Amino acid sequence: MSLNDQILQSIDELPPFPIVIQRAVQLIEDPRTSADNLVDILQFDPSITANVLKLCNSAYFGLRRTVSSLREALVMVGFDQLMEIILSQESSMLLQAPCKGYELRQADLWRHSVACALLSRIISKRLNREATLTLFTAALLHDIGKMMLGHFVQDYFGQIKNLTGERKLSFTEAEKEILGIDHAELGGKVAEKWKFPEPIILAIRYHHAPSHASKDREVVELISLCDVVAMITGIGGGADGLTYHGDGELMKRHHLGEKDIEQFIVKLEDRFQLVDETLNTKRGGEGRSWLTMS
Ligand SMILES: [Fe+2]
Ligand SMILES: [Fe+2]
Repeated sequence: MSLNDQILQSIDELPPFPIVIQRAVQLIEDPRTSADNLVDILQFDPSITANVLKLCNSAYFGLRRTVSSLREALVMVGFDQLMEIILSQESSMLLQAPCKGYELRQADLWRHSVACALLSRIISKRLNREATLTLFTAALLHDIGKMMLGHFVQDYFGQIKNLTGERKLSFTEAEKEILGIDHAELGGKVAEKWKFPEPIILAIRYHHAPSHASKDREVVELISLCDVVAMITGIGGGADGLTYHGDGELMKRHHLGEKDIEQFIVKLEDRFQLVDETLNTKRGGEGRSWLTMS
């Protein structure tokens, strides 16, 4: 079997995203979908319901009454926030494992992904755009391809690293040259397999080369920006972090300067700590909600 076939086959070895979440994400771009439709789908997964209730009833939300169903959670925290909690929790199953090829330890990729997802709200707000669930989902899953490509990157790490040094290729360019496919392209194939909406597929596929996207450029560029800022923070950063270039152009085009980046990082650090603590349930909180902080 060729290396390319082996890599493509690895998509089937990825632990499945719960089928009800796949279905919910497929529907988020459809204007005919209501919050009730989605909750109808999600409430049939007992572990999702259990996780949401546990979190909604934790000190972080500081709700005055006990939430006992997904529908009540929907009323109490709102639809987008409910989906964000569910997506962040469920993605941890997919993104928790160490990813040796990228020098990512346990949960590093999940932390980087959650940082990007939170940045999608922060940066959208700064650019006066709507912070949509499409952006949140795309940001959360943008590096999903690393979970499959990691083993292959580990096997060919020396050659990939050489190309980033000698020919100054970015890590993804070197992946493509040595392995025939890069983690962004592979991630796009996973999103296609899960029948996700096209803007999410394209944002994952082109997050390191937004100018190559022929459609949905706004979404793709925003995810790319989130990734750049997340890499600057170093949250869950890996071996590839310092090899990317050409991001200055994207910042300039959106009139973003160093001051903006500093502000993004300050806002992110505060929110990220709460998410990390809440979802990892390391310790109790002070009744603040990480999703509603502005
Ligand atoms: Fe990436
Ligand atoms: Fe990334």
